[in-house]
Amino acid sequence: MTLINSPVFVPEASLKKTGCCSALFPHQRPLELEIGCGIGDFLVQIAANKPAHNFLAVDIFNQGCRSTCSRVEDSGLENIRVMRIEARYLMHQYLGRDSLCALYVNCPDPWPKKRHRKRRLINREFLDLALYCLEDNGEFNFTTDFTDYGKEVAALLSNDPRFINLNATSYTNELGDYPTSKYMRRFLDQRQPIYLCRYRKKSGQKIPLPAISKGFRIRWPQEET
Ligand SMILES: C[S@@+](CC[C@H](N)C(=O)[O-])C[C@H]1O[C@@H](n2cnc3c(N)ncnc32)[C@H](O)[C@@H]1O
Repeated sequence: MTLINSPVFVPEASLKKTGCCSALFPHQRPLELEIGCGIGDFLVQIAANKPAHNFLAVDIFNQGCRSTCSRVEDSGLENIRVMRIEARYLMHQYLGRDSLCALYVNCPDPWPKKRHRKRRLINREFLDLALYCLEDNGEFNFTTDFTDYGKEVAALLSNDPRFINLNATSYTNELGDYPTSKYMRRFLDQRQPIYLCRYRKKSGQKIPLPAISKGFRIRWPQEET
């Protein structure tokens, strides 16, 4: 693993020092989070469309963070920061309650084998954490090319009274103006549908910080020593 030396890359130690994500940006603006940014192509499109918002993009893999940083630097956008960190750990340890106005998860690892399904990122526990981090009316956006993952997440969201569906159906295969990521384009090129879920957090809820089970890939502070 090589060090990422980019002005848009934030090592965890810097976040520890500032203690808060909004301090990582030159301007105080509403904050959006992309989890598993891959090569950063979705990120750069959405951040260019919303210059009045800040974007934090996270991925657990060094190479993805490196590619994202290069893409962000080439774009000249100053409203993006990139971190190599596990998403649930970041949300639980560093993002405060009501700190996000939007959250994006595009084509997360599908873990297609039945015995690996419990490794999937999006489940009820994750939604509790997302609701804790999202502000009133904050958006939760999810895409996948995996039919059973798409339908499972759509059912979780549409049956959760804490969310409002932004589409007429629990999921849609019509992307509209939603930007595409590398993985989304790969599947669309193979004529496979993408499942898109767009929901909003209902306003007026005070969600407590949920306990997060020490699941797959989650790293906790006591493990750093
Ligand atoms: C299948 S790729 C999709 C990349 C990109 N979103 C796209 O649609 O092109 C999934 C990405 O999520 C990252 N990832 C998986 N689990 C993660 C986690 N718990 N926290 C942060 N990133 C994660 C992986 O490293 C990988 O880059």
